Amino acid sequence: MKRDIDWSKLGFHYTEPEYIVRSAYHEGAWEEPYATKDKYLHLHVSATCLQYGQEAFEGLKAFRGVDGKIRIFRWKENAKRMAKSAEGLFMEPVPEEIFGKAIHLALEKNIDLVPPYGTGATLYFRPLLIGTTPRLGVGPGRDFEFIVIPSPIGPYYPGKFHCTTFIVNRHVDRAAPLGTGQFKVGGNYASSFRATEAAHALGYDCLFLDAKHHRYIDECSAANFIGIKGNEYLTPRSSAILPSITNDSLMTLAKERGMKVTRRHIRLEELSEMSEGAACGTACVISPIDKVLDPEKGKTYLFGNEPGPVLSELYHALRDIQFGRAEDTHHWCEIVEN
Ligand code: PLP
Ligand code: COI
Repeated sequence: MKRDIDWSKLGFHYTEPEYIVRSAYHEGAWEEPYATKDKYLHLHVSATCLQYGQEAFEGLKAFRGVDGKIRIFRWKENAKRMAKSAEGLFMEPVPEEIFGKAIHLALEKNIDLVPPYGTGATLYFRPLLIGTTPRLGVGPGRDFEFIVIPSPIGPYYPGKFHCTTFIVNRHVDRAAPLGTGQFKVGGNYASSFRATEAAHALGYDCLFLDAKHHRYIDECSAANFIGIKGNEYLTPRSSAILPSITNDSLMTLAKERGMKVTRRHIRLEELSEMSEGAACGTACVISPIDKVLDPEKGKTYLFGNEPGPVLSELYHALRDIQFGRAEDTHHWCEIVEN
């Protein structure tokens, strides 16, 4: 179905796809993923996803390259991470084969929604896994549904290469050190809203510190943190943060460029020793940080209003691979015939 979409004006918002893809898990087996126009669930009011938060999701993109070909970026990594999230919430992991079939079917059935090259827009896939067993007693369910929702999206931050200001919040934690922070589950996002909405009300994004000491950097809102210190790429080691596939890719590119890549606890005060800082994730790729405010301690860490050279280079290197402008030496993109 041809759609009249102004691709270059898309933001990070939902555009209704024609088809979504669904597959239910019942009596120990996954059903073959199928495409449907029905965007509503016939869900029992006592389903474990509603009652006890048995829900996990993912986010990945397909890109229309400079050569007109469509590339899906590292979807097997998203499949692996979703399997870990499922295990973390006692849900049935979606097999990689089902995950892959669902993504490819969602793409095939919505091929007109892949934005043209040059618009900056991409086709985002939101895989979702929910517990559907009706239950009142506290405990996990036995039935699940896996859904892939495709939606064309524009840049997460409109404008060219957006700089973000973060504010530290020591009154709301995103996730406990041994909790669910390493999983991509809806509960982590709901529990961070008190902090993120308070930050947005002031015009900022929220920087989460580790929940145990409030000393080390955990996450930049819903993104990993990267700091550049001399020739070193620094990123937090924490049991409470999501292992970002973008961060993993950027670390590989940084190493290739002769940088030292270190994943360790990073004290908030170390920001003053860094030349560049950024948030990274599928949605924004890299969003440079211009400053971090710590009002409680009366401190501001300044990076400047322009993206720094190191992170700019890494950003363009990754985007060039995703859009087929540079050789994909790591085989991160799957080219889909269309
Ligand atoms: N951290 C959180 C909490 C996220 O929601 C995301 C987004 O997926 C990321 C980090 C970045 O992960 P990725 O690069 O795999 O998108
Ligand atoms: C990302 O994809 O980078 C995210 O931060 C995920 C968010 C939109 C839920």
